[in-house]
Amino acid sequence: LLIPDLTDLHQVYPPAKLGGPELGLIGQSFAIQEVRDAIDRLKQVDSMVLLLGESGTGKEVVARAIHKSSDRANQRFDAINCGAIPEALLESELFGHKRGAFTDAKADRKGIFELCTNGTLLLDEIGDMPLMLQMKLLRVLQEWEVTPVGSSVPVKIKTRVISATHHDLKSEAHAKQFREDLYYRLSIVMIHLPPLRERLEDVPVLSAHFLDGLKKRFNREVRPLSPSVLNRMLKHHWPGNVRELQNALERAVVMSRNGELDSKDIFAHLCPVVKESVPEPERNAFDSSLYHWPLTEAKLEFERNYLKFHLTTSRGQIPEVADKSGRYKADVYRLLSRHGIDQTCFRN
Ligand SMILES: Nc1ncnc2c1ncn2[C@@H]1O[C@H](COP(=O)(O)OP(=O)(O)OP(=O)(O)O)[C@@H](O)[C@H]1O
Ligand SMILES: [Mg+2]
Repeated sequence: LLIPDLTDLHQVYPPAKLGGPELGLIGQSFAIQEVRDAIDRLKQVDSMVLLLGESGTGKEVVARAIHKSSDRANQRFDAINCGAIPEALLESELFGHKRGAFTDAKADRKGIFELCTNGTLLLDEIGDMPLMLQMKLLRVLQEWEVTPVGSSVPVKIKTRVISATHHDLKSEAHAKQFREDLYYRLSIVMIHLPPLRERLEDVPVLSAHFLDGLKKRFNREVRPLSPSVLNRMLKHHWPGNVRELQNALERAVVMSRNGELDSKDIFAHLCPVVKESVPEPERNAFDSSLYHWPLTEAKLEFERNYLKFHLTTSRGQIPEVADKSGRYKADVYRLLSRHGIDQTCFRN
């Protein structure tokens, strides 16, 4: 593993090699170089691309880079999270609706496909798209026309479609949890972003890039990471991938005295969450006060307790937590990172 001296980083890796500010895709690992190469080859064509990778690995960054390097660069780029919008609304968000199509449809409204017809549309979390809509989406991607809800007149579109997911979509397609025909349609070009732990060579360059931004944002002097801090960082599992790294560095910069970054601050998110509340699932999970919370917060609170409960009973063993919760391991890692929970704190 090559660990460059961060003081000289920008001399060792001129901006172009770092990915170039124009693409915003930083990294010197073989994997990232291959991604950059793929983006370059996609310049002239608008084939569909499926982006795969754990949460926080940079799927959206890559989608934007594909857009920026294409001849659609001056047009719209939009991302829609197919997992976060209720099914009934999602169809209208994607394909639009006619006035009166449903109770709240006070006027005609264009969907994101149509709005983005000359640009690029990222269908994020495509793995979470309801099966009913998968069928409609497949038809859109075959005919290149959308039919707004409540209308029978299709509208032609030329949208460039990129989709992204942290799911193992191929296995899901084989298991009939995701439409196989849609999977093949979406995955004409597939780009996989490996987790950060499998490309640790990117940690120093990404850190330098983020620290540079933080220095400017907070207008602070920040010293380069010391070799011991960097070493500690290279031993970390990074379940939240690049996003976790970015947040960790921001915290360390905010907490730093005289510009010195401390690994305690970088990893401060790992254990305090657990210290502050030892899980008491029986009491918390069904705590009736949750009924008085907004639904989103109540769900998150439940999810947090649920994870801590299974981490405690399985002593931090992710495969066991995945098994008990009926999720993929990658999903469990993603949830833990979302809640800032470190499974290693449950090992003893
Ligand atoms: N190679 C990279 N160069 C620069 N910044 C990056 C890179 N990869 C990720 N990031 C940054 O890390 C954060 C997470 O990236 P992004 O949102 O693209 O991840 P994602 O794979 O879409 O995650 P999720 O599945 O959770 O949506 C962003 O702030 C992004 O700017
Ligand atoms: Mg994303």
